[in-house]
Amino acid sequence: MNQGLTLLPQSATAAARATDTLYLVLVGFSGLIAAIFITLIIVFCYRYRRNAQADRSKPPSHAWGLEAAWTIAPLLVFLWLFAWAARDYAVQARAPDNAMQIFIVAKQWVWTVEHPNGRREINELHIPVDTPVKLIMTSQDVIHSFFVPAFRNKRDVVPGRYSTIWFQADRPGKYLLLCAEYCGTEHSEMKGRIIAMEPEDYTRWEQDGAGEAGLAQQGFALFRQHGCMGCHAAASTVHAPELSGLLGRRVHLSDGSSLVADETYVRDSIMEPQKAIVAGYDAIMPSFKNQLNEEEIMAIIEYIRSLGPDQLMGERP
Ligand code: CUA
Repeated sequence: MNQGLTLLPQSATAAARATDTLYLVLVGFSGLIAAIFITLIIVFCYRYRRNAQADRSKPPSHAWGLEAAWTIAPLLVFLWLFAWAARDYAVQARAPDNAMQIFIVAKQWVWTVEHPNGRREINELHIPVDTPVKLIMTSQDVIHSFFVPAFRNKRDVVPGRYSTIWFQADRPGKYLLLCAEYCGTEHSEMKGRIIAMEPEDYTRWEQDGAGEAGLAQQGFALFRQHGCMGCHAAASTVHAPELSGLLGRRVHLSDGSSLVADETYVRDSIMEPQKAIVAGYDAIMPSFKNQLNEEEIMAIIEYIRSLGPDQLMGERP
């Protein structure tokens, strides 16, 4: 496979190639400027060495035009590089709205993957090419870091919160997945593979191993099993916040602040409900810490996500 420049590792996303181009331009400019300075230092060292016949009679003077030029020119070059990098960063930081979502739970020392249809994998992540994929990741123990060199993509995976990363592979193939944060004895063995497939192959693969229940259905079962319906179902007489259409909605809290509900907010509300009370509601929700594992919390989040704003809590996904 032609990878273009061979001095950089294999690349499999447009973002990776954009990062490489920026990297090479940055190194090129830095090298050029360093070369100019080193050359001038050598030239002046030689020309004004102790025994040189150079004319030293003139008093020191200022060449304002020259000084302004060599101050402003590099400034403009690096501001341009900054703007370029900021633009690339902004694109890579925010997943497109149509991205498919896959959940990752890192634990010492494996990567576990939960596809929305209930298919699970360990240390392997199958994805379709030419499709934006967003990973919602958390850790069950210590900090890990999700790193795919071929995507030039790396994000810390932290216990107690969700971090996200997205990519769009454009070449089918197998790409190395590494843990890039020291996480204990087997850190160096915490490796996996990303398997990028043609969309038709991916659909077939995904259907082959679909769980008996999708993630949202698993969440629905947990929701009933843990008695959440007692308060959050539409028919409940308890005054509890409406969960349908929650993700992405602005929530006003009793301390006067507000936030847009994301996965981390929902997780916090389940684990430490007293931390952020919704304005106008009583602080009566118990904590589900030690009752749910990370996979189960993700399933509940998927269930809540599956309920559109016009659906009522308690409906089967
Ligand atoms: Cu997980 Cu290093």
